[in-house]
Parts: sequence; C-alpha cells; structure tokens
Amino acid sequence: MPELTPVITQDEIQRRISTVAQAISADHQGRELVLIGVLKGAFFFLADLARQLTVEKIKIDFLQASSYGADTSSSENIVLKKDIDIDIRGQEVIVVEDIVDTGLTLTYLIDHLQEFGPKCVKVCTLIDKKERRQAKVKVDYVCMTVEKGFLVGYGLDFAENYRNLPEIYHMQL
Ligand code: IMP
Repeated sequence: MPELTPVITQDEIQRRISTVAQAISADHQGRELVLIGVLKGAFFFLADLARQLTVEKIKIDFLQASSYGADTSSSENIVLKKDIDIDIRGQEVIVVEDIVDTGLTLTYLIDHLQEFGPKCVKVCTLIDKKERRQAKVKVDYVCMTVEKGFLVGYGLDFAENYRNLPEIYHMQL
C-alpha cells in the first residue's frame, strides 16, 4: 500500500474553486461560455466549478486524451479518445483540466479545439505543477500551484485508483 500524505483539505479545495469561479464569472458576465472538461481527472473539479459560476449561459462538454509509449516526451504520442459533441464555433471556451504537468496534453487539446473555430480557448486548471513543464502553455485560471510530487484524490488517479478520495494527497511512488 503506497504512502498517502494529505496536502489539500476538502474545505481548502472548495475555497480555491470559489476564488477562481468568481474570477471566471467576473470575466464573462452577461456572455455565453463553454466549459470543456478533460476526462477523467477533471470531473469532480468541473462539477464543483460549474455550480459556482454566475455566467449568463453555460454549456458543458468533455474531451479525453491519452498518451501512449513508455516515455511520453512529445505531443505526437497523444491520442484523442473522446471528442466534443457540441458546436463551439464562435464561442468562448474554457478547458477545465485537473493537472497541467508537462503541458503536452493541453497543447494538443488546444490545437485540436482551435480547428472548430472558437472565439477563444482559455485554460482553467485545478493544479499547476511546474516541475516537468516542457510546452509553453498559457494557463488563465489556477486553483493551486505545486512545485513537484505525484498527487491523487479529488479526481486524480494512480493506475485508475484513488479518484474518489475527497481530499488531495501526495503519493510516495
Ligand atoms: P501533461 O501536462 O501532458 O504532462 O499531462 C497532464 C496529465 O497527466 C493530467 O491531466 C493527469 O492526467 C496526469 N498527471 C500529471 N501529474 C499527475 C499527478 O500528480 N497525479 C495524477 N495525474 C497526473
């Protein structure tokens, strides 16, 4: 059994989400917004974030990407497993991610979404992890920043386990 050390409590997660939700709401008052959650890790985050937004009209969709190969060091190793269903042409889009790590997944997903002709694509992440960043990617809304380490809980997994934990833990690999 790996060692799990709590790093962010449920209350703290919700406090950080409230702050980001207020910023997104202020930036998009009276307009339409499309939230695109990145499966599977961002599902709790998107659910909590979306319910705190006060933007006029919000649509929600999901994308799923996965990387293959033992050592993923290129966005060419990323494949799309699930695409969006709704039309985002001319829309303001926010991609809702669990963790931005190397930034390669996000770069791939943003490039993909741009092909549908949205008005703009912004990024909101629960966690911005700086340690292994390879791709230059602009993250517009960040709930928390961590320098390094492997995190699980609140949607984040290790080999599909621990997503259901209500708080975020550091896992000793
Ligand atoms: P990257 O930014 O392309 O390196 O990949 C980001 C994805 O890697 C996230 O959406 C997560 O699915 C996964 N990931 C990166 N760091 C962690 C972590 O600490 N815990 C769980 N998943 C992680």
